[in-house]
Amino acid sequence: MALERTFSILKPDATRRNLTGAVNAAIEKAGLRIVAQKRLRMRREEAETFYAVHKERPFFGELVEFMTSGPVVVQVLEGENAVAKYREIMGATNPAQAAEGTIRKQFAQSVGENTVHGSDSAENAEIEIRQFFSGNEIVG
Ligand code: RTP
Ligand code: MG
Repeated sequence: MALERTFSILKPDATRRNLTGAVNAAIEKAGLRIVAQKRLRMRREEAETFYAVHKERPFFGELVEFMTSGPVVVQVLEGENAVAKYREIMGATNPAQAAEGTIRKQFAQSVGENTVHGSDSAENAEIEIRQFFSGNEIVG
């Protein structure tokens, strides 16, 4: 299996509750390496671009509101099978359905405020990483 990269966001509910270290510990425990990381406040247009695939969904407005409601930490994670591995340790979108021990099961408050984002494919990971990082900010 080749080394792969995925894009992660620690969402505003995570920064608000001071959970960035706890989530990072879970990421590293799973064998993923944080090869880039920065804290920022997403602007509305950035959030709209990032979640453009959900533009027509009823929760889109709420999602953009939430993602711009406080600081986020954007990250690049590297490891074997990183895209699938991160999705696995994140758990289901709805924390009520997330498996025991997953990040969302432990920390998420609702289907909207669900603590983390992880890319859903290697192709999207590349696009998402490019939206937030330039090459020299990623140090593997
Ligand atoms: P993400 O993109 O953030 O990693 O989450 P995901 O793949 O597990 O879920 P996705 O279907 O892509 O949904 C993106 C985010 O939209 C919010 N959401 N709210 N109120 C709702 O029914 C609802 N459904 C989705 C969540 O914050 C979800 O992570
Ligand atoms: Mg998604």
